[in-house]
Amino acid sequence: LNRVKALPKGFVWGGATAAYQVEGATTVDGKGKTMWDDYLKAQGRFSPDPASDFYHKYPEDIGLAKKYGLNAIRVSIAWTRIFPKGYGEPNQAGVAYYHKLFKTAIDAGVTPYVSLHHFDEPKTLFDDGDWLNRKNIDYFVDYAKFCFTEFPEVKNWFTINELISLATGQYIVGNFPPNHHFDVTSSIQAQHNELLAHARVVNLYKSMHLDGRIGLIHVLNPVYPITDTPENKHAAALYDAFLNRFLLDGTFLGEYTPETMSLINEILDANDAHLDIEDGDMAILKKASTQNDYFGMNYYQSQFIQAYDGPSGNHFNGTGKKGSSSFSFHGVGQIVPNPDVPTTDWDWNIYPEGLYDLLKRMKREYPNCKTIYITENGMGYKDEFDGTDKVIDDSPRIDFVDQHVAAVLKARDEGVDVQGYFIWSLQDQFSWANGYNKRYGLFYVDFKTQKRYIKKSAEWYKELADTMK
Ligand code: BG6
Repeated sequence: LNRVKALPKGFVWGGATAAYQVEGATTVDGKGKTMWDDYLKAQGRFSPDPASDFYHKYPEDIGLAKKYGLNAIRVSIAWTRIFPKGYGEPNQAGVAYYHKLFKTAIDAGVTPYVSLHHFDEPKTLFDDGDWLNRKNIDYFVDYAKFCFTEFPEVKNWFTINELISLATGQYIVGNFPPNHHFDVTSSIQAQHNELLAHARVVNLYKSMHLDGRIGLIHVLNPVYPITDTPENKHAAALYDAFLNRFLLDGTFLGEYTPETMSLINEILDANDAHLDIEDGDMAILKKASTQNDYFGMNYYQSQFIQAYDGPSGNHFNGTGKKGSSSFSFHGVGQIVPNPDVPTTDWDWNIYPEGLYDLLKRMKREYPNCKTIYITENGMGYKDEFDGTDKVIDDSPRIDFVDQHVAAVLKARDEGVDVQGYFIWSLQDQFSWANGYNKRYGLFYVDFKTQKRYIKKSAEWYKELADTMK
């Protein structure tokens, strides 16, 4: 393996978090419920409290970030700390918390990059239809405006995190509330409505002439035909349209191109689904498409696709081995294991080439997307902790991150403007669908005591940070 030896001068070298996954304190200081609180309780699998107790431990975690060479941190604001019901009077305790958090980070030289929405929809609005109800867009714009006015210390904003994970988690895969499976109409409508919400917030931000930057975050899932038959290639194109292209077109072209729509319509027709675009929607997207200051790209894995004309469903071949799961989407195709590609313990393909291909694609196909930050990339791993202060050996994670950073720097050398990389995640936190044993952090969290321990990946992260000095 060719190890990354140095980072470019001025590179943003950060760690990512999300409010609901780290803060805990879900019932204190006037916080309102999100769509997850009752859902997680009913499931009884794990609790969002105290998570990594970042609500109280943020000074320590920011201190660790600084000590280990990070110059940036991704956080999200919990909408329900600011507006417990999603609208109405602001909750001053929540506002005060974020002022303290931002100040602590800025004083430490760890620049905050702040998202407004990271899967944590207020419960009241969720019950009212969530993104499928266009009122939600209005409330989101009001909340964003409040934050822009209230937090001038934040210079780097993101509107929504991973629109596709939300839309597919909620309505296709069914592992996010409200747990719908293959409800294609809701999924595509949620994508469109979230894009509108993003665009309206960007247009608003620009009209406020503030001293800062704004963009959104997409997780991109490159798809490759498992073999090069015309059928498999077409299935891969359909998957790509649904997972990536519809959202990228909406964000950076401000239109869904005829090629994209013909693929999307093929999927909609096969599933008796439809998409409503109202008058004026496309003008809003168009206006915003040239106003994004940057793009936050999350990348975890690529998928391999085979043509398929059976029913939709999650299929497992029963061996329980890595690479043994597949996912079938009627009218689209089937995600299948690729025996040549290694996977993580959670069956995620380890494929850094996908990240390189994506970056090149963004430059080629979406010229309005100028500056890119990798806002999440990392490896879920079962770190082994022996109860002592000994540095925890997570070498597979180092290999993973190293190969992905190498892919980023290669694309950068070839002219793609990538300005930074945020590892997912800063400290261990909970994983939405997998609870507390799927760890991603540079810093180990003993969830029983809330003590932090150093992993080898944190030391490696620091060594690379030092190359910028
Ligand atoms: C992204 C999210 O989808 O991937 C994070 O923005 C999430 O919130 C991360 O935790 C890893 O996914 P998972 O399911 O392994 O936790």
